[in-house]
Amino acid sequence: MSTDTLTITDNRTGKSYEIPISDGAIRASDLRQLKLDPQDYGLMSYDPAFTNTASTKSAITYLDGDNGKLLYRGYPIEQLAEHSNFLETAYLVLFGELPTAAQLAAWQHEIITHTMVHENIKHLVDAFRHDAHPMGMFISAVAALSSFHPESSQIFDPEVRLLQIKRLIAKVPTIAAYSYRHIMGFPYNYPDNDLSYAGNFLQMMFKMTEQKYKPDPVLERALDVLFILHADHEQNCSTNTMRAIGSAHADPYVALAGAAAALYGPLHGGANEAVVHMLAKIGSIANIPAFMESVKRGEGKLMGFGHRVYKNFDPRGKIVKQLAYDVFEVTGRNPLIDIAVELERIALEDEYFISRKLYPNVDFYSGIIYQAMNLPTQMFPVLFAIPRTVGWLAQWAELLNDPEQKIARPRQVYTGSPARDYTAIEGRK
Ligand code: CMC
Repeated sequence: MSTDTLTITDNRTGKSYEIPISDGAIRASDLRQLKLDPQDYGLMSYDPAFTNTASTKSAITYLDGDNGKLLYRGYPIEQLAEHSNFLETAYLVLFGELPTAAQLAAWQHEIITHTMVHENIKHLVDAFRHDAHPMGMFISAVAALSSFHPESSQIFDPEVRLLQIKRLIAKVPTIAAYSYRHIMGFPYNYPDNDLSYAGNFLQMMFKMTEQKYKPDPVLERALDVLFILHADHEQNCSTNTMRAIGSAHADPYVALAGAAAALYGPLHGGANEAVVHMLAKIGSIANIPAFMESVKRGEGKLMGFGHRVYKNFDPRGKIVKQLAYDVFEVTGRNPLIDIAVELERIALEDEYFISRKLYPNVDFYSGIIYQAMNLPTQMFPVLFAIPRTVGWLAQWAELLNDPEQKIARPRQVYTGSPARDYTAIEGRK
């Protein structure tokens, strides 16, 4: 008998089955041979929220939550944050290798030639109310791009697919900035292709009457690093949504709009906003002990702490904390940082948090940085969606190239009524 197998005895029938183990997993479909009789569908695995189900093989991102490791295509996130830039990292995430100098120059050129959006996208954003959430505008405008680029439905044509990937990466900052300018009541700024990806985004957000906007190099670099850190995070909720919609062969614009909608949820892309609200509510260092006691009594969570996968530190959190101090050199100190640092110090010494393996996650300090950069809290999930566009597209392309993938269609355990006859209305109780 091979050792890379699992032997299962079905006590309902007394039969034993040998199931192969590959890459630390069994195939759920192998369980279907466990039947009570030939008509039986076969045994299923039941896994709400997919907490222990691998839905795909993927070569993009490796995450080791116990040891606080995050790798894109094998490269540690710390090294990419220190040495790379967002567009180079995007190339790596999408194509699997770091680009040569010539490849990088061509890639950057290709992205910046797609930064403009059709003028009608402006009118679409204009149609929203003055106080619309920017994420609503972002999702709608991304979905609308599908109708501006109808050839995008040819998802199995590699050239067409690559063109949409470039368009989406190039256009999401423009749409994001339009949504911000709309709520502020400011005129929209067109892209400035002399600037870097992050620099151009800052320009589209903040340029007022000056002829040429010059992004502050520290803020430009900080944003670029935050973009690198958020580029991909393997099979999270929004990526799973991108793959599920993509598996029905929808075009990438509508699929990405769906992924962004998942990100909009407060359990996913909204935690950094919640951290800022929490720190503001605590108000001062003196109020921290009482707040911590209320968390331990179960009256609320310490937002920005804990993670489904990281049960040691979140490697992104460490980088973001350092970045916060760099940003404050330019923007002035955000007073919330003192409360955050003290909260972290107390939590890391407290038995409640130690025993539950709760450490600061990426969102604990990122909101403080965004706030120091004058970005309204409503924009925080949009700032997450811009770089995650790269991860969503890489995962979507991987799905389409994977011969094992089909339309995503989970099974269910039916708990409803058995078959019964229709009752006329006068006969109902
Ligand atoms: N503050 C206080 N207690 C907590 C916290 C927290 N932030 N997180 C978890 N716990 C407790 C929880 O109450 C439970 O305690 P007990 O065993 O006594 O019932 C225990 O720790 C285990 O928690 P869990 O809910 O089973 O953990 P989970 O893996 O289901 O949840 C989480 C992970 C991120 C949803 C959760 O830690 C949380 O809500 N954190 C705050 C929100 C947050 O910061 N989210 C951002 C995640 S990082 C963004 C990203 O990577 O996309």
